[in-house]
Amino acid sequence: MSSFPAYLDTVRPEIDHALDRLLPAATDRPARLHEAARYSIFAGGKRVRPALVLLTGEALGAPRDALLIGGATLEMIHTYSLVHDDLPAMDDDDLRRGRPTAHKRFDEATAILAGDALLTLGLTTLAAAPETISPGRRQEAVAMVGRAIGSAGMIGGQVDDMAAENDWPEDPRIAAELLESIHRRKTGDLLTACLRLAGIYADADERLDAHLTRLGDAIGLLFQIGDDVIDVEGTDEQLGKTAGKDAAVKKLTYPGLFGLEAAKERLAQVRDRAHELAETLPGGSGGFPALIDYLATRDR
Ligand code: IPE
Ligand code: IPE
Ligand code: MG
Ligand code: MG
Ligand code: MG
Repeated sequence: MSSFPAYLDTVRPEIDHALDRLLPAATDRPARLHEAARYSIFAGGKRVRPALVLLTGEALGAPRDALLIGGATLEMIHTYSLVHDDLPAMDDDDLRRGRPTAHKRFDEATAILAGDALLTLGLTTLAAAPETISPGRRQEAVAMVGRAIGSAGMIGGQVDDMAAENDWPEDPRIAAELLESIHRRKTGDLLTACLRLAGIYADADERLDAHLTRLGDAIGLLFQIGDDVIDVEGTDEQLGKTAGKDAAVKKLTYPGLFGLEAAKERLAQVRDRAHELAETLPGGSGGFPALIDYLATRDR
């Protein structure tokens, strides 16, 4: 793989096609709900999660139809999490993926329900498809993804992220532990699920699943430290979302707690740890080194 952005460009049409096929048509009743779901899905997200499913599955030799469906379901779930993350009761953001947020373009109730619909469709699709994967493995996939995005995972991380806003623990050591735990859960657990889902489709054994979990965890932390850094360094146009928002509302972030330079040092440490884990992946590191380098340097 030459570079991860080039890989993204190659796989994006396949991913978008799978999403288009799986989502209800914008004219299906209730049309406004389906229009809102499609509005957020096709707003121009990077598609890192489905690409990660494909990249992992290619390294492990999983069937491509499964990877595309699985990747699309995790992009639906990710998009639901963004629609809800932007709501006035949560981060209260107006801009997402370069467009007005779902609740701005539609209305709050439609945004909440479109998010619910994307989550539900993601999980039911994962249970029903793909036909090339055994029912037992599909059940495993639903349970694994459900745990990753539940109250012990992504939702729990979101709860603690909101609670820590403008209310950081006084003890810096405790604040640092809380911060890492928020990032691992709110962002890392879904990214880890991308690797593990590809592992399930490749019939991975427990040992390989444990390795994918460790690698996913490092990639997840790397991703969210990067998100914190670009919030400080990026512009609205570059990010497609409101830059500088974290500091404005006193979010507990890496640059906020440690300063920008120390946050970048931590980013580099986590990048190195991710490289180590990728190098020892049974069967070879595949596209992971390019992905990891991209996550350590991305500007959007
Ligand atoms: C943003 O995710 C939300 C986080 C978990 C940090 P992405 O940066 O992948 O956003 P899109 O999908 O490209 O819009
Ligand atoms: C979002 O984290 C994490 C989830 C949506 C689960 P952020 O709140 O930092 O994401 P952005 O910066 O709004 O994309
Ligand atoms: Mg948030
Ligand atoms: Mg947010
Ligand atoms: Mg952010």
